[in-house]
Amino acid sequence: MKTYITTPIYYVNAQPHLGHAYTTIVADTYSRFRRLCGDKVRFQTGTDEHGDKIVEAAAKQGVAPKEYVDTISAMFSSTWPILEVEPDNFIRTTDPDHIRVVQKILQDVYDSGDIYFDEYTGLYCQGCERYLTEKELVDGKCPDHQKPPEEIAEANYFFRMSRYQQKLIDHIHAHPEFITPERYKNEVLAFLSEPLEDLCISRPKSRLTWGIELPFDDKFVTYVWFDALINYLTGLGYPEGQLFEENWAVAEHLIAKDILKPHAIYWPTMLLAMKVPLYQKLHVHGYWNVDDTKMSKSIGNVVRPKELVDAYGVDTLRYFTLREMSFGLDSSFSSEAIVARQNADLANDLGNLFSRALAMVQKYRSGIIPAPGTYTAADLEVQEAAETMLARYQEVMGQFNFHLGLQAVWEFVGVANRYIVTSEPWTLAKDEGQAKRLDTVLYTILESLRLLTLVLRPVMVGATVKMGAALSLAADDARISLLTQGRVWGLLKAGTQLQTLANLFPRLEKEGKEQKEQKAAPAPQKQEQSNAGSEDDSLISFEDFKKLDLRVAEIVAAEPIKKSDRLLKLTVKAPEERTIVAGIAQHYNAEDVIGRQVIIVANLKPTKLMGVTSQGMVLAAKDIHGDEETLILTSVSGVIPSGSKVA
Ligand code: MSP
Repeated sequence: MKTYITTPIYYVNAQPHLGHAYTTIVADTYSRFRRLCGDKVRFQTGTDEHGDKIVEAAAKQGVAPKEYVDTISAMFSSTWPILEVEPDNFIRTTDPDHIRVVQKILQDVYDSGDIYFDEYTGLYCQGCERYLTEKELVDGKCPDHQKPPEEIAEANYFFRMSRYQQKLIDHIHAHPEFITPERYKNEVLAFLSEPLEDLCISRPKSRLTWGIELPFDDKFVTYVWFDALINYLTGLGYPEGQLFEENWAVAEHLIAKDILKPHAIYWPTMLLAMKVPLYQKLHVHGYWNVDDTKMSKSIGNVVRPKELVDAYGVDTLRYFTLREMSFGLDSSFSSEAIVARQNADLANDLGNLFSRALAMVQKYRSGIIPAPGTYTAADLEVQEAAETMLARYQEVMGQFNFHLGLQAVWEFVGVANRYIVTSEPWTLAKDEGQAKRLDTVLYTILESLRLLTLVLRPVMVGATVKMGAALSLAADDARISLLTQGRVWGLLKAGTQLQTLANLFPRLEKEGKEQKEQKAAPAPQKQEQSNAGSEDDSLISFEDFKKLDLRVAEIVAAEPIKKSDRLLKLTVKAPEERTIVAGIAQHYNAEDVIGRQVIIVANLKPTKLMGVTSQGMVLAAKDIHGDEETLILTSVSGVIPSGSKVA
């Protein structure tokens, strides 16, 4: 199988930031995932270097446009290795090959009658580099750039986009996965339910010279989008050649919601006019905000990828962005959130599992992989959980739902950690008669580590090389790919010597100003603790405790509460359905909690929170370090019907 995945080509009027980094990390992760599945992958990114904005930015710096674009483009291409992103092609719209192909396409479409010359008066937004319709304005302003558009009247060339409107609508209906997630497909269909205007594709040279000259009129240059979108073809050597033939048939584009219309409407209609088959899929993600605020230069909250790597390391950054953002929805970046993920998911759950497991094999078996004996039900449960995790992982990673893939992986990390606790290798080690049992337990744990190394390879490149090396697996070993001929379990060879593994994910302290101040003053929760025990009224009687109605409940639906960044509205079954408002939104996405069993206080007096009546309380464990908070929902460790009493 083949995969061709592209990112947008980024404007060189600004330096790379978290948003560009995210899209490109996603494309890289997807490429690595597809390679694990055995696909031949081509991954393309690049820079968009023509247009008014670029001329303006160059002028501000007092340099010629070409010199300016060379500098910024190099900033993008040199950022990718820092993020362990390895594109197969980096395209620039100032490449002579690209310019040649854009001119050829313009001529072809002109010759076939889909480009015409006309006088036009329209509302032009500099920020969007396109004319806006009246309908798109909010309070007379462009909703994205918060500026009123300029009224411009000039003669220009137009692409007959309207001619292809119905064909595009039919195509979207016939190919349900053409635009995903669904919400963006619906947005496009809603837009297409109104008559489509033709697309202005030129600028007179009197207004803009920094562009590709029209082959049929040297007084004009192409308008930004007609130039930029074609990069997806020119990077394959269009119109001929094996590269083009093999890859175009499997093309998948990845973008954020800001450039949905050019990709979902301009580009397919251009392809229809060119008589080139449409791309296969358009994957659309949401926007990263910073501390719940839009990232912007004027606010001064733009996050640079290199600074993040310096502060947290590339593995943590990649893991965090993929785990934290529900693909398609907006997400908020904060240093607290990334530190919390590093400490809870990486240092505690995953890092401890590896170090504990390897240390036990070292201690009890001199670091040599033992041969397993007969598997018991407990071991087989781990194997089953591994199979479930692998199946889910492959399904959702292929659909760009990386957060769900990582969630499934961490559920398995939990299974492995609990297996260590319940199988008690340290007790087995004390009893000579249990030597074979200990072998089986250690082997089960090591196989779990191998599978974790496998599934995390697309996400954390450096860390998984170390994890594999500790298990004596080379970076390209087939046993850490998805090509194991259907064999999931038992691929580690007994008798192999394990290698040492340095601390994978150190715990991070967030050394913000606030935390330093808190360190100076006694922590409030400590005071409470030291009082507890000395004051009799801090103890409750058994009778008081008995009043509490604690129950196991299943979360069957969850949604964020509007205007609150803390609250989720949960529908739980215990066993009857009820609504509970829980302050967990900063720690859990709504879709991530559905299906979980939690423990609730069922006999709390109903109370109204943000207009919603809450009938109970969900219990969670909380850990506070300075200004960083970890919160984990409570649950039960086995299978029990919802509604069961907790006593
Ligand atoms: N040059 C055009 C794209 C042409 S593609 C044929 C362009 N460039 S851009 O530099 O503005 O990049 C936009 C893209 O950068 C988004 O679609 C997204 O991939 C990424 N992001 C920029 N800011 C972002 C966020 N705040 N959050 C997430 N991604 C964002 O548009």
